[in-house]
Amino acid sequence: MGMWSAASQSQPSRSEKISNMAGAETSPLNDERLAANRAAWDARVPVHAASRSYDVEGRLRDKQGPHPWELEALGDVSGLRLVHLQCHLGLDTLAWARAGASVVGLDFSPTAIETAQSLAGQAGLSDRAQFVCADVYDAPAALHGGTFDVVYVSTGALCWLPSVDRWAAVVAALVAPGGRFYLHDGHPMAWALADERLTVEHTYFEEDDPFVDDSTGTYADAPGPLPRQPMYEWNHGLGETVTALIRHGLQLVWLKEHDWAVWPRFPWLIHTGDGRWVPSPGTPRIPLQFELLATRSL
Ligand SMILES: C[S@@+](CC[C@H](N)C(=O)[O-])C[C@H]1O[C@@H](n2cnc3c(N)ncnc32)[C@H](O)[C@@H]1O
Repeated sequence: MGMWSAASQSQPSRSEKISNMAGAETSPLNDERLAANRAAWDARVPVHAASRSYDVEGRLRDKQGPHPWELEALGDVSGLRLVHLQCHLGLDTLAWARAGASVVGLDFSPTAIETAQSLAGQAGLSDRAQFVCADVYDAPAALHGGTFDVVYVSTGALCWLPSVDRWAAVVAALVAPGGRFYLHDGHPMAWALADERLTVEHTYFEEDDPFVDDSTGTYADAPGPLPRQPMYEWNHGLGETVTALIRHGLQLVWLKEHDWAVWPRFPWLIHTGDGRWVPSPGTPRIPLQFELLATRSL
């Protein structure tokens, strides 16, 4: 289907994928920090796919659609072309396929893409869900210059990217005239906090030097420690993200900051029972997630 059929139906070998990406300025092979991140994500994919937190079996069984706040943001997507950047296992991508969109998920982890393709098959959605393995900074080339009615990014994406401005250029290039960009991610204020205490530990703004995480854990429950390998993370201030999107030609429709998270990010959060975690009583309310909708004019 469409111009991604060849890429998704006839997957290149892993070595071909690597050589395909080697020429790009920011491809993992040219940036050892992104290469390290990709290796770490490859190791996390099977752990996440088997985890209770992702509950792959339950989500396939329940035919889970998009989150309520996402449906409120984007409405009816029937017949629309949607690309999901940094799609991981592809579960959020498949949710939009169930809602009627024709979807493409993109991620630089070959293991993630193989898993997402397999899950699309198990869900009976392979006819409208395709997956492409590429660095997000190479997405316009990997998607053959195609544009989409909806460009979608979900939680846990921006912190892996060294430059929010170069990412915004990619996003803007992928939004079709009259199309929309929807982002729901962790708030930069939350990324700046210490893991255990409500204190600021990291810089709020984008910096060249990344935060290096060499812990052996992950946000999804794992049966045991993961191999110790560094992961590189960058924060991006909210103003930096919004200004970059506007600079590259998108119009901001709205921006919402939320006092809840979609996973138990901090020990001082309590579960609401509807997929969100909120500050326990007496804890100050600060922004933990944000959502943003932008458009490209016709
Ligand atoms: C936290 S996961 C995304 C989770 C997803 N929102 C979900 O709910 O399942 C982050 C994903 O970003 C991908 N990623 C990180 N850096 C990337 C890059 N430079 N290009 C493409 N994908 C990248 C990782 O492989 C990983 O699958």
